Amino acid sequence: MSTTLVSTPGGRVFRLYSALADRPHLLIAGATGSGKSVTVNGIIYSLLATKLPSECGFVLLDPKKVELVQYKKLPHTVRYACEPGDMIDALYYALDETERRFTEMQRAGVREYSGRDLYVIVDELADLMVSQKNQALPPLQRLAQIGRAAKVHVIACTQNVMAVTIPTVLKCNFPTILGLRTATASQSRYLIAATGCEALPDPKKAGRGMGYLRDGADLHRYELYMYPDDEINRLINYWTDLSAYRKAV
Ligand SMILES: Nc1ncnc2c1ncn2[C@@H]1O[C@H](COP(=O)(O)OP(=O)(O)OP(=O)(O)O)[C@@H](O)[C@H]1O
Ligand SMILES: [Mg+2]
Repeated sequence: MSTTLVSTPGGRVFRLYSALADRPHLLIAGATGSGKSVTVNGIIYSLLATKLPSECGFVLLDPKKVELVQYKKLPHTVRYACEPGDMIDALYYALDETERRFTEMQRAGVREYSGRDLYVIVDELADLMVSQKNQALPPLQRLAQIGRAAKVHVIACTQNVMAVTIPTVLKCNFPTILGLRTATASQSRYLIAATGCEALPDPKKAGRGMGYLRDGADLHRYELYMYPDDEINRLINYWTDLSAYRKAV
């Protein structure tokens, strides 16, 4: 019975997005229109469908101002930033929170934080790295280095697969990288240490998304499902209505 359930496309996809959310950090890279935002929406969807705000929080950095704004009012969202200064503040907020969690763990004498997961989601890293690399790189790199034990995860998207946007010092702290369609084979190699991303279909033309997941030493090819907007909106409305109701009573 359970095999039937998980073998449905929806079930498999849901498990893939949940598995991506479970990784310490995730870098999603590919050309414009390759499906980065669709993947981020899928991950957020899988979290909203299974986690309470007390189990999962979001710090959202949205330099394009339109990609993550629909999640701003969620009770899970602790910070939403789309202006340059605010985005750097949000990164330092997440870093302070990480350090606060370490102090708490040290006091309790434990190695793993037991509170909620915090997801720092950046859609689009290139915008941030071009205009504010010097301010953004240190906190981002630090979060990727030390976030794991404090249950602070970084999920960053970028359309610019170049060392200036994803410096090696940053890339090496992302053990999990999802490579979507890239313009060239060398970009694919830079990302996932293998060619292949350049030959992936354009999801808009193909009507479906494909990607390669580099997960430590493993490389897998995945089909990525796009959750319809109305399904995502239903979940957003559920949570925002619930928190409005809680505040009112
Ligand atoms: N997995 C998918 N299944 C079906 N269609 C998809 C999928 N991924 C992407 N698409 C199609 O491609 C379009 C562009 O996807 P998306 O906005 O995620 O690209 P992006 O990589 O974020 O681009 P940009 O760099 O411009 O932000 C979607 O609006 C959708 O029409
Ligand atoms: Mg996008």
